Amino acid sequence: MGANVIQSVRLDDVNDTLVLLDQTLLPGKTQFLNLKTVEEIWDAIYKLKVRGAPAIGIAAAYGVYLAVKPSEAADVRSLYEEFKKAKEYLASSRPTAVNLFWALDRMESCFIGEMNAGRTVQEVKEALHAESENIRDEDAEVCESIGKHALTLLKPEMGLLTHCNAGAIATAKYGTALAPIYLGEEQGYNFKVYADETRPLLQGARLTAWELERAGVDVTLICDNMASIVMKEGRVQAVLVGCDRVAANGDTANKIGTSGVAILAKHYNIPFYVCAPLSTVDLSCATGDDIEIENRRAEEITEEWYKMRMAPEDIKVYNPAFDVTDHSLITAIITEKGLAYPGYEGSLKALFDK
Ligand code: MRU
Repeated sequence: MGANVIQSVRLDDVNDTLVLLDQTLLPGKTQFLNLKTVEEIWDAIYKLKVRGAPAIGIAAAYGVYLAVKPSEAADVRSLYEEFKKAKEYLASSRPTAVNLFWALDRMESCFIGEMNAGRTVQEVKEALHAESENIRDEDAEVCESIGKHALTLLKPEMGLLTHCNAGAIATAKYGTALAPIYLGEEQGYNFKVYADETRPLLQGARLTAWELERAGVDVTLICDNMASIVMKEGRVQAVLVGCDRVAANGDTANKIGTSGVAILAKHYNIPFYVCAPLSTVDLSCATGDDIEIENRRAEEITEEWYKMRMAPEDIKVYNPAFDVTDHSLITAIITEKGLAYPGYEGSLKALFDK
């Protein structure tokens, strides 16, 4: 990815702010927010100004660092109390993407390690700063590696379908499901990408279509309910999606509608690939039933994207933000350490041990 790269999440060390690309304003406006407090960062995560599992984790890591940076705590124990409060608060912003909890836990392990080593308040703050930057830098490397592994499964001129946005703006760089598309583009693969619009929040229409178009990729926007016809017409040779949490048995939570795409792919005999950093694999969840699914406000369906309300005032609305794709529908899970194939309990664990 060259000059066109947009950094959606970064730390501004001069002003001590979290700088976020406001993803709710895309594609119309490219506007950055400068956030200082944990309340502002919580709100940005909840409102999807920053979204995508890895980007949420990175934002939360910066968030806990920024929470303790200005602290005047007299000793490391008191600083730890402040840290834990900020950590718990940010962890309550969204429940499904495990990267949020993974990044916050990693920041806490860093804190505890420093505390046990007898460091000063200032030294602990510096270590948290470094750890938050490591989390972001490692994510960029992880995504590139996922892209390289995924590209081995793809051939030039293929038609690819993706759901939601698992692109550069959902991560530190490259994205997960879109990483092989960017790498393929650099190598002249000339993929034809179909982007599901992704009801109700339109991440596919607003974000994936925008991201791929500005990178020069051949991308076609379709409504979610058109995936079947484009598959039937032979336009799609592989499906690539990201994910928010993978259970030990390979069941995968991703944006609502993903499991339907997987069922269609099975019907049309099209490989269905899930791109997942190992930080998204949660071996403490035995199956997808253990993954908490976020439910969101009714207005997202009834009025948010319309000039006028599109449903009766008192209509009951069910708005789960994610669904779980059964492991039996997944051809392979592509991680930074390589591919996991069915028999996921063993194959995922083997990647962790690598
Ligand atoms: O609600 P969102 O937009 O945060 O949902 C995001 C997704 O479902 C992505 O596919 C997932 O987080 C992977 S991002 C690399």
